[in-house]
Amino acid sequence: MSKEHREDIEISSDEKKIQLMYIDNIKKINKKYFEQTGKEKTYMTVTYGCQMNAHDSEKIDGMLIEMGYKKVLTESEADVLVYNTCCVRENAENKIFGNLGYLKKLKEKNKNLKIVLCGCMMQQEAIIDKIKQSYNHVDIIFGTYNLYKFPQLLFTSFETNEMIIDIWKKAQEIIEDLPSQRMYKFKASVNIMFGCNNFCTYCIVPYVRGRERSREVEDIIKEIEYLVEDGVKEITLLGQNVNSYGKNLKEPVTFAELLEKVSKVEGLERIRFMTSHPKDLSEDLIKVIKENDNICKHIHLPVQSGSNKLLKKMNRVYTREDYLKLVEKIKNEIPDISLTTDIIVGFPTETDEDNDETIDLVKEVKYSSAFTFIYSVRSGTPAANMDGQVEEADAKRRFNKLLEVLNPIVLEINKKQIGTKQRILVENISKNDETLVTGRSDNNSLVHFKGDKSLIGTFVDVKITDCKTFYLIGEQI
Ligand code: 5AD
Ligand code: SF4
Repeated sequence: MSKEHREDIEISSDEKKIQLMYIDNIKKINKKYFEQTGKEKTYMTVTYGCQMNAHDSEKIDGMLIEMGYKKVLTESEADVLVYNTCCVRENAENKIFGNLGYLKKLKEKNKNLKIVLCGCMMQQEAIIDKIKQSYNHVDIIFGTYNLYKFPQLLFTSFETNEMIIDIWKKAQEIIEDLPSQRMYKFKASVNIMFGCNNFCTYCIVPYVRGRERSREVEDIIKEIEYLVEDGVKEITLLGQNVNSYGKNLKEPVTFAELLEKVSKVEGLERIRFMTSHPKDLSEDLIKVIKENDNICKHIHLPVQSGSNKLLKKMNRVYTREDYLKLVEKIKNEIPDISLTTDIIVGFPTETDEDNDETIDLVKEVKYSSAFTFIYSVRSGTPAANMDGQVEEADAKRRFNKLLEVLNPIVLEINKKQIGTKQRILVENISKNDETLVTGRSDNNSLVHFKGDKSLIGTFVDVKITDCKTFYLIGEQI
């Protein structure tokens, strides 16, 4: 085993070249294998968690494809199996451990299988200890800060056949321009920053993704120009808190300024962004969203709770009144804005009254959709040690009460779209009905309508005719 939890890292500026060399070496090995057997080496990536992780997996896929691996859709067919993990809530971690048991059987059948674990969960020492103790069929483990080193780690694993663990405790420079394989030809995510400085007391992200680091404006714009040239119509700018973008750059830039620049990229039809922390969403940003047609009229604005007592304990740095004032300001400026949110139920010391305050806030804001979570204790975070942890039964009861109010509101908001014309970027054939396609409107609603695969990747004008809680139904105009 080698190189665990290193603090003494120095990255050479030739790092990209080094990784490209490893990619090339593995490519040659795979080519030789193909010439000898007529078979291609295969890979599969399994992704848990947020859009940030999904985007990291596109980078892993890109590197594997450059190395000559072919993507497969079942684990038993793969020669390299990558699990990109999440640790934001405990059930995500439990799923990984459950699957690792199954992978042991796969490895017994295919001795050459390489099992790779990466992502947020791997940044926790206790998890690494557990894997070393009970899951020694794992081949490679790396974390969130050194994803770009994957080619080197894979090559070393072929050479040594030992378990390789390479986890860094903190971030180094941002390595630009490594290969990436987009999930969709016509839409792409672009990291604008990494890490988070907010330390919400329930959240493990600042511990596993480190302090905020912003990419340079020029690098972001260059990447987007390249993507647009390559057929991308919609870009999602990603950061844990996009509103604090640019503060740590040598020449500070605001998110509003960046967004304005992105909106001017020739040929880019749609821009989304997430996530916005309510504490620092600026008036300038509202103005930029309002004034630029290619910026989607949708803001994901996690509130987490409607109780001032809990917001304070969560270290969210705004009050319920601040949040509502901000929502009012946004709605006044951009009346057709769609707002979505994240809510946590069962945070330490929560009472039925606190939950009722959240429910009241939901009624007032009228979200178009919301991600609701039951609080999950994350060891190492301040909330894990707070008095007043809530009984599971109480949390579930409050959670259900919240959903009983939330879902009809979402339906009510969706109903308002019936009869309107929406411009849909078609993404897929519907999973449940092959005669339907599905896509998203400017305001992020999911819309199904009659169509075939020739529409995928194109914009279609659709009249909304009906709606359910989680999607709209329409017809092509
Ligand atoms: N328990 C439950 N939900 C959490 N989130 C983050 N940490 C926790 C936790 N410990 C939720 C928050 C955040 C979203 C991405 O995940 O609502 O906005
Ligand atoms: Fe976690 Fe809060 Fe940072 Fe979001 S803003 S990643 S919830 S610490």
